[in-house]
Amino acid sequence: MEIAKLNNESTQVKTIRSYYKLHAKLYQATRWSFLFGRNQIIRALNLPKQSDQTILEVGCGTGHNLSTLANQYPNLHLMGVDISPDMLKVASNRLQRHSRRLLFLEKPYAPGDWKLPAKPDVVLFSYCLTMINPGWEDALQRAYDDLDEDGTIAVVDFHGSPFRIFLRWMDVHHVRMDKHLLPALEARFTAVHTEVRRAYGGLWSYFLFVGRK
Ligand SMILES: C[S@@+](CC[C@H](N)C(=O)[O-])C[C@H]1O[C@@H](n2cnc3c(N)ncnc32)[C@H](O)[C@@H]1O
Repeated sequence: MEIAKLNNESTQVKTIRSYYKLHAKLYQATRWSFLFGRNQIIRALNLPKQSDQTILEVGCGTGHNLSTLANQYPNLHLMGVDISPDMLKVASNRLQRHSRRLLFLEKPYAPGDWKLPAKPDVVLFSYCLTMINPGWEDALQRAYDDLDEDGTIAVVDFHGSPFRIFLRWMDVHHVRMDKHLLPALEARFTAVHTEVRRAYGGLWSYFLFVGRK
């Protein structure tokens, strides 16, 4: 499958690309044990089985969510944006058989000089926004601008933790986890579904948010 290429690189982009050079290989074997709520956020979208909407996943990684969407909804049009060529390579191999209705773009998601080929009905962020530091606010603004008038945003991500040592450990892995996303989402979008859940007895919390523009 062809992947449209990146043309500018910030420090954030370089750091994350190099992090995922190694982690792309371990990703599918490890992330199920802590990226909770990914199936629930797709269920929370409440899509009809025959929906032919266009869904954009920002930071689609190895295609975990796109694969679920493609397998469950045969008529969806799917786009995945990511900055890591290593993650996109895994996703593109994994989703080869859906290539007719799927497009990957190797781009940083921020307001800028590249355009999506189609307006999405839904923008999904799954464990991506906590990694865009700096730039998560710009990414939210871009999602707002990219969405159709009555478009939907869906986000599942880390929320917070009462343990400083855990927050430091997540920072080493480029994750900012200080409950900053949910208020920003609620300020920009009309909430349809908001939920905060505990992981591993409260070691950390994660949230699900579905909102309308
Ligand atoms: C933790 S992974 C999540 C992957 C996938 N969404 C999932 O739930 O399995 C975060 C992904 O976001 C991507 N990413 C980070 N910053 C980005 C940016 N500015 N623009 C687009 N993708 C980005 C990373 O390359 C990585 O693939």
